Amino acid sequence: MEASGAPKFLFSAGNFSFSPFDRFVREPDHFIDERNLMSLSRIDQMRQNYTLGGLSEQDVDSDPMVQFGNWFAEATEPGSASGIPPWLEPNAMTLSTSDPDGTVSSRIVLLKGVERNAFVFYSNYASHKASQISANAHVALCFYWPHLQRQVLVQGGAAKIDRERSLEYFRSRPRDSQLGAHASTQSSVIASREVLEQRMDELRRRYPGETEIPLPENWGGYAVVPSWIEFWQGRTSRLHDRIVYRNENDAWTIERLSP
Ligand SMILES: Cc1cc2nc3c(=O)[nH]c(=O)nc-3n(C[C@H](O)[C@H](O)[C@H](O)COP(=O)(O)O)c2cc1C
Repeated sequence: MEASGAPKFLFSAGNFSFSPFDRFVREPDHFIDERNLMSLSRIDQMRQNYTLGGLSEQDVDSDPMVQFGNWFAEATEPGSASGIPPWLEPNAMTLSTSDPDGTVSSRIVLLKGVERNAFVFYSNYASHKASQISANAHVALCFYWPHLQRQVLVQGGAAKIDRERSLEYFRSRPRDSQLGAHASTQSSVIASREVLEQRMDELRRRYPGETEIPLPENWGGYAVVPSWIEFWQGRTSRLHDRIVYRNENDAWTIERLSP
């Protein structure tokens, strides 16, 4: 198979770059061979039967943020369906961002607020995600609540929240987390773990005891304003329920998608 015409899929790290996708197109056997290493852990046989519930157009609230609030409350309730495991963070969500050229990246961040029409998280304004958001405000969120066999997907636009609100949240964080926000130039290369710990020590000396720690210039919240939200409930036989809200001219339409 010829690589020409294949989508450009260039992975680069520093001055070292290669194009695994081009090679995959040219030499698929280099990537997929009969040893199928994943079958060692029987990954191909891992599957769950989803039986905990269903979701219908009649069940959901007409406002997706209210619907999200209802599901989030259930996801965080100790008594919810199969019980919330102590290690689960229901407010953890995958945030996907992309460059204008289409390069996509994803990572987990923590949801820290649900507003009337926005999801709020906090991060470093000089991080990789931040530079992607400043170039392209389109983002996606994905919540997965395995104990409820539910997923919530969001598409929307991300924008920085005002500094006053970031400050209010910053002050509510544990002292060491506040110092950590100063210590870390998130997403940049550092020489070693020790460099980070030295910075923390310096910051502890600079802000001893109860000295007020200022909000770093490069740190604060983002609001993701949704234009599209999907509520997914796992069902048997892979016939899952998918109820989607689409915003058109400030009004939400509700539709069911095929699983
Ligand atoms: C459970 C969990 C929670 C996290 N919460 C946040 C968060 O709220 N904000 C944040 O900036 N990074 C958070 N991170 C770290 C991010 O996943 C990521 O490593 C970091 O934001 C740098 O991403 P970037 O280089 O793509 O900008 C969290 C990671 C995990 C696993």
